[in-house]
Amino acid sequence: MNERPSATPVSRRHALGGAAGVGLGLPLLAACGGDEGGSTASDPTPEVAPGEPLTTTADVPVGGGVILAEEKVVVTQPSEGEFKAWSNVCTHQGCALESVTAEGIRCPCHGSVFDVATGEPLSGPANSALAELPLTVEGDSITLA
Ligand code: FES
Repeated sequence: MNERPSATPVSRRHALGGAAGVGLGLPLLAACGGDEGGSTASDPTPEVAPGEPLTTTADVPVGGGVILAEEKVVVTQPSEGEFKAWSNVCTHQGCALESVTAEGIRCPCHGSVFDVATGEPLSGPANSALAELPLTVEGDSITLA
């Protein structure tokens, strides 16, 4: 029984990780910075010229849509025969939108979801609508106008 009272605090600090705990915390803080979990595409200019084929009507599900990552465009079909095109750049911090689900157009970075019919955010942190892009449908071909 030779324990000294001062030995206990040192032991607790080591048990909690001490400096190693601080080191582990830094990557977690960096992950909150905005670019983790998705690619950044902050320039909303589409990478396709007006009139160039973008996709076909058959590739865009009714009530959903497709992400065209290379073109930086999201094409949706809110109701049968109604097509919309949006910039795939999230209005929160500029991440590239990554998927279209039953809930809407999802951003992988912080979880914003946008309406497939209006581009308005359904859940944040984004608080402004996606940039709508004018499109043309000719036969089954969809192009930007
Ligand atoms: S960049 Fe933050 S939710 Fe899209």
